[in-house]
Amino acid sequence: MLKSISKYLWALSVSAILFACTQTSTEIKESMKVVDNHTYAKPEEAVITHLEWDAVVDFDTKKITATATFTIDKAEDAKEIILDTNDLNISGVKDEEGNVLKYNLGKDQAFLGSPLTVHLNSNTSKISINYATSANAEALQWLNPKQTADEVAPFLFTQSQAILARSWVPVQDSPGIRFTYNAHVKAPKGMLALMSATNPTEVSENGEYDFIMDKPIPAYLLALTVGNISYQKLSARTGVYAEPSVIKAATYEFEDMEQMVVAAEQLYGPYKWDVYDLIVLPPSFPFGGMENPMLTFATPTILAGDRSLVSLVAHELAHSWSGNLVTNATWDDFWLNEGFTVYFEQRIMEAVYGRDYSEMLALLSLQDLRAEVEDILSGEKPEDTKLKLDLKGRNPDDGMTAIAYDKGYYFLRLLEETVGREKFDAFLKDYFTSNAFHSMTTDEFITQLNNKLFDKNGIIVDEQLYSDWIFGEGLPANCPQPVSNRFDKVEEVLTSWVGGGKIEELFSPEDLIEKRWSSQEWLHFLRNLPEDLTTEQMSALDLYFQFTGSRNSEVFSAWMIHVIKHQYEPGYHNLEAFLVNTGRRKFLSPLYAEMAKTEDGMKMAQDIYAKARPNYHFVAIGTMDKMLSWKE
Ligand code: BES
Ligand code: ZN
Repeated sequence: MLKSISKYLWALSVSAILFACTQTSTEIKESMKVVDNHTYAKPEEAVITHLEWDAVVDFDTKKITATATFTIDKAEDAKEIILDTNDLNISGVKDEEGNVLKYNLGKDQAFLGSPLTVHLNSNTSKISINYATSANAEALQWLNPKQTADEVAPFLFTQSQAILARSWVPVQDSPGIRFTYNAHVKAPKGMLALMSATNPTEVSENGEYDFIMDKPIPAYLLALTVGNISYQKLSARTGVYAEPSVIKAATYEFEDMEQMVVAAEQLYGPYKWDVYDLIVLPPSFPFGGMENPMLTFATPTILAGDRSLVSLVAHELAHSWSGNLVTNATWDDFWLNEGFTVYFEQRIMEAVYGRDYSEMLALLSLQDLRAEVEDILSGEKPEDTKLKLDLKGRNPDDGMTAIAYDKGYYFLRLLEETVGREKFDAFLKDYFTSNAFHSMTTDEFITQLNNKLFDKNGIIVDEQLYSDWIFGEGLPANCPQPVSNRFDKVEEVLTSWVGGGKIEELFSPEDLIEKRWSSQEWLHFLRNLPEDLTTEQMSALDLYFQFTGSRNSEVFSAWMIHVIKHQYEPGYHNLEAFLVNTGRRKFLSPLYAEMAKTEDGMKMAQDIYAKARPNYHFVAIGTMDKMLSWKE
């Protein structure tokens, strides 16, 4: 490995040092000022430091009515504070003494919403905003009982990342601005309310709950969910929430959670958020997981029944360091959140389940990465294959590609392989500790890498490394290559089968689905099946392995790609049922995209989508409407 990086061996750019010496301190300060293009806030004038949120959740009107009281910190001469809002109905703003403050709601812009400018008096230190959310608040998904697992009560959850917090709280919605919060929430009697904060484990008599988040967090980590939810403790500091009918399966699936927290702490230092709980949400949750502090939100599609998809828990847990402690300063630096988290996730998986397991995950991630790089490079924005993004004027959701995740991961893995694990781990541990509760820009990360990894260890690095990986397009040639004997075996079986071998001779009964092979091996098998299978071959595979009936969402959706491609009709019923029921965008996008490739398929996609759309969250609808040219 050292060899592959030797072309980068160089002194820290001399010009950079000279430049730093001739710059005045104000110029340096100015050049370090971080510009977040996705907020209206001007934190250098006035910034929020604490939120007291008092809210009533009403399922009948699908509205949250609330008062958000912010403690603010302002420059002496600041005359106003600017918050982000999106589709909120503001009814008034007061100061801490109850005096009415003038405010103004600016022009609404795509993605960004409207700036709320509140005029301040010279001694204003708190502002209280009365408001209600709109029926279409983008972060909120209001489910009717039929859309939940138990079908007995409605359900509400939020999804604030990247810039949707402003649709349910008027707030300085920038990942570089942190604040602590307390909340008092009134939910309908009999329902449990949970937030990204200290949480109740039992339903209260009057439906009212209090929450505390005493560590400063950015707005995208604000979260709320309300429903018919029960709790099961897993260890002193971990536990799981789910609808009552799901709690048993969830308890089984996440049994290793404490072990994961221990492994994570051994790698990069103490878990700083006291409790690590996870809630299994209804199936319309648009993501696999969301790292809300103290309470990860997760899709039920990871309940495979055999703990085979728990790397997602390792991922969301890892965000408790990468993201929630050290936070991307802007959405252009998103890879600092996700690339680090994939790296950390892999390390947790390796520690708990072994290297041969984590290398399979790494190879699947490399397959995703190669496909995404090819796809983006052939499109209109090849520059989106750079780690450092430029999302100005665009929806930050556009940055949520495999580049941030998997190219980010491979860059960090290259660093590890270059300097050795011991040095890299020491660097990372210090990185998470010394930057905790702060935001990080890509440039600042490079500075710290130069100082604290390379210089400190007497290793000289050519800045070309950064131009290739961080500021350059595509996947550099020195991308690390994982090895997996287990995948080699899968490929051998595949080759024999394609060459005419009989399934029943290649697979003993114990090899059958979800037994000897892990989900990852099945995924590798399915992803590498030939593109031109005959109906007989499809039927033979399905009969023997029961893919169409698989309970494993990853295996199922990889199989469904072939079902669509080969117009294998026995699979259609389950395909439709899955798409109508499941709102996880990661599964929706490839399946609908595969259908949309042919005329008949497009028709089928649109028919299914018409039934499924009411079950999807705003962020999934946004993507699918575009793909399927949907018009209301
Ligand atoms: N923080 C992300 C989810 C996210 C990113 C939401 C950007 C909105 C904007 C979360 O940690 C994540 O990466 N989830 C992945 C799962 C993971 C195992 C790769 C997902 O939902 O697929
Ligand atoms: Zn993530």
